[in-house]
Amino acid sequence: MIQKAKESVQPKVLIVDDEEAICAAARRLLRSKNIDCVTASTPQEALKILKREDCWVVVSDYRMPEMSGTELLEEIKKNYPNISRLMLTGFLELPIIQEAINRASVFRFITKPWDETELLLGIETAIQHSGRKRTNSQLAHEIGVQNQKLEELTQNLESEVMKRTQGIEESRRMAESKQKLVRELTGFVKNLSRVSTIPQLYEVLYYEMTRFHGVSVPYLLTFEEHGRGRLYWMQHENLHEKHISSLPQHFGSLRLRTSSPEDRVWWESHIKKECRQLVTIPIRAREIPSSLPVALFLVEHDLDKGKLVDFLERITERLQPVSIVLDKIMLRHQLEIAAEQWEATFDGFRDPIAVVDKEEKVIRANKNFFKKDQSRCYEMFDKRTELCIDCPMPIAISSQEAASGLVRTATQKSYRVLSYPVLGSDQVRRVVNHYTDISHERDLYLKLVQSEKLAAVGLLAGNIAHELNNPLSGIRALAQLLKSETSPSSPHHADLDEVERAAIRCQQIIKNLLNFSEPSTEYDENVDINDLISITLPLLKTNLRNQNVHTYFAESIEKVKLQPSQIQQVIFNLVNNASQAMASGGVLTIKTWQEKGKVCFSIADSGPGIPPELHQRIFEPFFTTKGVGTGTGLGLSVSRSIVEKFGGQLTLESKMGLGTVFTVVLPSKPLAK
Ligand SMILES: Nc1ncnc2c1ncn2[C@@H]1O[C@H](COP(=O)(O)OP(=O)(O)OP(=O)(O)O)[C@@H](O)[C@H]1O
Ligand SMILES: [Mg+2]
Repeated sequence: MIQKAKESVQPKVLIVDDEEAICAAARRLLRSKNIDCVTASTPQEALKILKREDCWVVVSDYRMPEMSGTELLEEIKKNYPNISRLMLTGFLELPIIQEAINRASVFRFITKPWDETELLLGIETAIQHSGRKRTNSQLAHEIGVQNQKLEELTQNLESEVMKRTQGIEESRRMAESKQKLVRELTGFVKNLSRVSTIPQLYEVLYYEMTRFHGVSVPYLLTFEEHGRGRLYWMQHENLHEKHISSLPQHFGSLRLRTSSPEDRVWWESHIKKECRQLVTIPIRAREIPSSLPVALFLVEHDLDKGKLVDFLERITERLQPVSIVLDKIMLRHQLEIAAEQWEATFDGFRDPIAVVDKEEKVIRANKNFFKKDQSRCYEMFDKRTELCIDCPMPIAISSQEAASGLVRTATQKSYRVLSYPVLGSDQVRRVVNHYTDISHERDLYLKLVQSEKLAAVGLLAGNIAHELNNPLSGIRALAQLLKSETSPSSPHHADLDEVERAAIRCQQIIKNLLNFSEPSTEYDENVDINDLISITLPLLKTNLRNQNVHTYFAESIEKVKLQPSQIQQVIFNLVNNASQAMASGGVLTIKTWQEKGKVCFSIADSGPGIPPELHQRIFEPFFTTKGVGTGTGLGLSVSRSIVEKFGGQLTLESKMGLGTVFTVVLPSKPLAK
């Protein structure tokens, strides 16, 4: 590569000619025109000068001994393309010109001897030509340099872009992996949010852990009261559960342990497998006031150190939501226990209890409250359409104090209702109603009133009876005397007969009254009820002349210890009533039977029946629906008092239009009087 000659601002012209005289003439001419000029007498010298100096124009002789001018200029063209090349020649022969132009791109030919003006013009034009070429190549060079710089910048930019792209790619990958972790954590938390029991919690944790290669089926151990526990694990896609009767003390520690020998021993003895490596993760419920863990997670694995760190990081991240869920489960469990206890206590009350709001809607009730599909307390309690009569609830709500009332149901039961108001901020929001069944007490009370009434009547009747008996005996004796003195054909005889009969009836009534009020002196006997009925019925033969009588006697019946004449009177009264109820005919059915420890008989008629509102009243002394002189209203009250005296019961069943059945139940094992 030809070295680049030092650049000069002053254009320099190199004259090459083997004729020293020509060189000198040219030098002189050019210098006179202030054109810098060097000369060379041989092509080699010329080439040396060009290596050293920066020439703009070379003017070469055509004919030179070692190298022709064409060859020299061709060489110069090759190595110094900016130099404008001129040729001096004695003859302008066409082949020479053609060759010089083709090979050396000669700019101009100057004939020798030259015309000075022509030479100078040629040289100046060549200088300008060279100057343009230099400027062009300078520009081309600068453009080249700029291009190179541009190229470098482009390359730098590309590598920068590449670096940035890699950075972005890296951040994107990191962001994606973070996003994935966040997604997984969110999914885990979402799954946890659906958990409401320990087995469900275990399942979520199981699927979370087994994503890790090298981690075996995890075991969840929850702590229960009195040092007991419950172990959960998955086997063949099924959840298993095992009760652990006693847990080691050190399980109560809150420390996360990797391969604790004690834990491994416990694991192997309970899981019955050899343990590779073990991580023990304690879980604490956050809101349960205890610093102790409430569960342990036992994870067997064969992870190397790095993977184990990753695993623990992942698990620790999840412990907080797990604790929250565990809290939820345990609180729920405690709530369930409390609710169960409360419900059991509530249901344990024999009496119905209901919590009722101000609109009488039942919010809660124990199982002894009559649960139906209705929502109002009175609908549930007594199938009513409005508040029960005398319900104390309105008073409790308005007075904000407990109130009590007596409520009678459609089934004739009596309840004492206590309403306790439950105060909200400053007003009653609901009421707790406590219903006590006092039907039995009330019946006893009514019976007491009744028996007191009877006792009073008995006393009164007894006194009157005694007082009346004597004058009646006189009337009767007098009537008999007068009758004996009167002819039977006399109309007075019949009247006296009537007087005597009336006196007899009055004495019979008095006898009844005395029976009712005075203790009998008759001794008790063991009596066969069948026999007693059989001997009583004939006495009523005239009363039963219009009725069909059917008797059904039990084959073997125990004897009852009682006073036969008194029970006979009961039979008499009941049959008499029946016959009176079927005055125009009907069917009288008498049955006897034996029940466990009881001997019973019933007297049924096909009469008109007794209206329900009279069922109690007919047992009252002197209650009668019969006309004056026909009934005294003592038959049933006397009968009941006799039956009860022997520890028995006299009850009735009656259907209007169908008839009435009176039943007597007597204890076969007689009571000591
Ligand atoms: N079998 C019956 N069928 C319909 N009503 C009856 C029957 N037995 C009793 N009664 C009703 O009960 C009332 C009371 O009966 P109870 O025997 O006490 O008195 P009485 O029959 O009216 O009078 P007494 O029996 O003193 O002659 C009767 O008046 C009658 O209305
Ligand atoms: Mg009667």
